[in-house]
Amino acid sequence: MITDNFTTIILKWYDHHRRTLPWRGTTDPYPIWLSEIIMQQTRISQGISYWERFMKTYPTVGQLAAASEDDVLLLWQGLGYYSRARNLHAAAKQIVAQGHFPETFDDIKKLKGVGDYTAAAIASMAFNIPVAAVDGNACRVLSRHFGIRTPINSTEGKKEFQTVDQSLLPADVPGKYNQAVMDFGAMQCTPQSPDCATCPLKESCVAFRTNAVGELPVKLRKTEVKERHLSYVYIRCNGETAIRKRPSGDIWQGLWEPLLVEGETLPTFDGKLTLLKQGVKHVLTHRILYADF
Ligand code: ADE
Repeated sequence: MITDNFTTIILKWYDHHRRTLPWRGTTDPYPIWLSEIIMQQTRISQGISYWERFMKTYPTVGQLAAASEDDVLLLWQGLGYYSRARNLHAAAKQIVAQGHFPETFDDIKKLKGVGDYTAAAIASMAFNIPVAAVDGNACRVLSRHFGIRTPINSTEGKKEFQTVDQSLLPADVPGKYNQAVMDFGAMQCTPQSPDCATCPLKESCVAFRTNAVGELPVKLRKTEVKERHLSYVYIRCNGETAIRKRPSGDIWQGLWEPLLVEGETLPTFDGKLTLLKQGVKHVLTHRILYADF
């Protein structure tokens, strides 16, 4: 008897449970690349409408490249991590300068804002290149299923998960496999409450069999989270609001904001200010922002 292995089971699961996503019907690298940049650090449910607006506004990479950075940032408004939008725009110009979308993993990776994961996702989905796209979902699924305790964000862990995923990747359907693992991680083997009861992999899952699902994957807390205290001064004069464009060298480069005073003490301007809102907390990956208005 031939028993089904990890790859076979996950592909079969995908045939039944895959999400319908608007860029899944195409092998055109432009919409696929756009979707990958938008979906980094963004929930699919939030990202889809942005992807649709980008495709409508800039149907081709040439049109995106020809846009102004301000227009691209405006369309990105609300998604956060705005360097993604700036890199997207710069990469569109790189592609236009080359005359065509790059077609190998190494050339795709030369695009601004494209790392190993994104290059592998595009290469496999658009060009059928057999390279594993290892994101957080993939690490979680593999770490649990194979009982791998190497921290997923360590240098050693990154290598190990890449090697393991690559060894499981079927050369004939690499794009399908990569997306199957992503969807499986997002829908079945979720971070907080995975649905082990209905999981088709539970018999071979080391974490499930050893009661270690909650402990895996292991992650090192290595980035220090810093606090910043921001006081925004809303100035309205003759029907106009004073804003300024943020310079380079800090977050939100190129975005517009009211007058900013940074520091833990609130500015007073000799008692001329009214406190509109205090202590708004905004949590980012490496920062906790506290804002007063
Ligand atoms: N997240 C980022 N890209 C994705 C894709 N192609 N499928 C599912 N989830 C994703």
